[in-house]
Amino acid sequence: MKTLIFNGSPRISGDTAFLQQEFLAHLKGEYQVIHAYDGKIRPCIDCRYCWKNPGCSIQDGMQELYEEIQEADNILIASPIFFSEITGPLLSVTSRLQTYFCGRVFRKEKPVPKAKKGGIILVQGGDRPMDKGLDTVRELLAEMNAGMMGKPVCYKNSDKVPPEKHPELLEDVRQLARFFNEG
Ligand SMILES: Cc1cc2nc3c(=O)[nH]c(=O)nc-3n(C[C@H](O)[C@H](O)[C@H](O)COP(=O)(O)O)c2cc1C
Repeated sequence: MKTLIFNGSPRISGDTAFLQQEFLAHLKGEYQVIHAYDGKIRPCIDCRYCWKNPGCSIQDGMQELYEEIQEADNILIASPIFFSEITGPLLSVTSRLQTYFCGRVFRKEKPVPKAKKGGIILVQGGDRPMDKGLDTVRELLAEMNAGMMGKPVCYKNSDKVPPEKHPELLEDVRQLARFFNEG
């Protein structure tokens, strides 16, 4: 079983990383983490190559990631919320999924044939609704054919309560790992 994780946090030992560690401690199989802040993947430049051609004209780390997306059994998107959205660098990396949208809509192909399970971990300092971030990650997961989704893990008030003092939150993370493990 292969799990691909998109991590949108700039903090290596931050709140998202803490929940990701708990998730990995209960996950079976292989996994690969894409750190959006490491800058290996450039944003989509809307060159429109993918309106007619599969893949992407930009030759960078995304070429390997396209292969990993195809092979994955599960995809997790884990990100803090910045100004009510997932972080800019994660949006930048995932803008390269535009080739899948164009595959479906313009090229009339099925760009990601293998269906996957999808998971969501979102973290924010305050307690406002997370609807905007949730809508975005659901759309991104659907674009990667990861429509069978586990219960989203939404960690609010991270600025006040550290994740290790939040037993229900940790249980939600473990439950998400078990959902992926079910095969
Ligand atoms: C630039 C920036 C914007 C933020 N915007 C929000 C926000 O809109 N709502 C919120 O509740 N928290 C917001 N936060 C707080 C973060 O979501 C919070 O500190 C989170 O736990 C950071 O996660 P991390 O440690 O995994 O990076 C923001 C933080 C930063 C640095």
